[in-house]
Amino acid sequence: MDLTVVVGTRPEIVKMAPVVLALREEEVSFSLVHTGQHYDHTLSEVFLEELGLGSPDAVLDVGSGSHAKQTAEALIRLEKHFAEDPPRLILVEGDTNTVLAAALAGAKLGVDVGHVEAGLRSHDLRMPEEHNRRLTDHLSSYLYAPTDLASLNLRQEAVWGAVWVTGNTVIDASLRYLPLAEARSGVMDLVPYDRFCLATAHRAENVDDPDTLRELVDFLRHAPLPVVYPVHPRSKTRMEEAGLYERVRESENVLLLPPLGYFDFLVLMKHASCIVTDSGGVQEEATSPVLRKKVFVFRRSTERPEAVAAGYAKVVGTTAEGVITAMREYLDDPVPPSAPSPYGDGTSGAQIAALVQEALAKGPGPLGRKGAI
Ligand code: UD1
Ligand code: UDP
Repeated sequence: MDLTVVVGTRPEIVKMAPVVLALREEEVSFSLVHTGQHYDHTLSEVFLEELGLGSPDAVLDVGSGSHAKQTAEALIRLEKHFAEDPPRLILVEGDTNTVLAAALAGAKLGVDVGHVEAGLRSHDLRMPEEHNRRLTDHLSSYLYAPTDLASLNLRQEAVWGAVWVTGNTVIDASLRYLPLAEARSGVMDLVPYDRFCLATAHRAENVDDPDTLRELVDFLRHAPLPVVYPVHPRSKTRMEEAGLYERVRESENVLLLPPLGYFDFLVLMKHASCIVTDSGGVQEEATSPVLRKKVFVFRRSTERPEAVAAGYAKVVGTTAEGVITAMREYLDDPVPPSAPSPYGDGTSGAQIAALVQEALAKGPGPLGRKGAI
């Protein structure tokens, strides 16, 4: 097989789905490998099923661990998997440990790597994702940047590979799946509030930091609108360890839910009055023409400044007071943003699939074994 598509976590499945479906429509042969970084049904299979990807050709059972252990385990298992029958191109998406491991495994075997969502920069080196995306960009032969700014970042860093601006595939995903989600999801039956704020928070630099975790909990309990919060397992564990989970669960201002499938989550986004999040994908999705929501980014920085410039996202820092003040200001006059999405028109998956086909037809890229200088 000339092409291997690698995924490992929830957002990679969501954002790779439009590329995978476009490759299938074009009858391009490829294999789908899941590292198993995410393994719970609610973080993995539910997405493969709902988005129509089906079962991966291989699941490598990498699982959880420290960053070094998880990345190393993924690197070793991916290398073993690829070495048996090396593809000519490995396609990765985003900035997780899976992505870095796949890019490294490819580069060390002399296989070209294509990076979907290349060129994002938070300039916050506390974030493991910032290490992963920078290193992956510099190991890639083909870089699919979502925006002009991401492309500029790559050119300024003089990456080796060829760069294209394609939009972000998450816009394709929201457009494609929202109608299905609205037909199939019953999630709104669980929500006891007329108006609510949807929250997600799972970034390591937030929930692994006890002070920031307390600020998050204070926000949830005292937010000016009731909050619906599907809790990522990392965050649930951290709240339980700190003795905060029950305190949140007992609050009438908060509905805690397990991590949700894509259909339920899209429907909650659609019905929310606003969103508070530290997620990357959610910042982008909120700009989709079928969602268009104000997003308060519970972080000190964002690698998605385009969403800020377009009036969707506002970086509010990591204190309860910061989020609550920003939310109150918005709720005084809640006009949802209406600018076109800076992340494209929903054709990114098809564009990337076409570029992948072109690359395969041309022969090895700059980092592929036969193309290496
Ligand atoms: C990872 C990515 C992050 C991405 C997120 C998407 C890295 C460095 N981080 O963070 O960029 O935003 O996925 O959701 O790659 N766990 C489970 N079940 C699972 C998976 C994880 O319970 O199926 C728990 C384990 O306790 C684990 C913890 O969650 O230790 C963290 O999982 P991990 O994959 O290491 O990082 P995420 O926080 O999910
Ligand atoms: N998402 C979901 N269910 C949830 C939370 C998020 O389907 O309970 C989706 C969301 O719509 C987005 C993606 O997961 O497409 C974002 O994943 P996450 O926030 O875990 O990762 P990040 O984008 O921050 O890397």
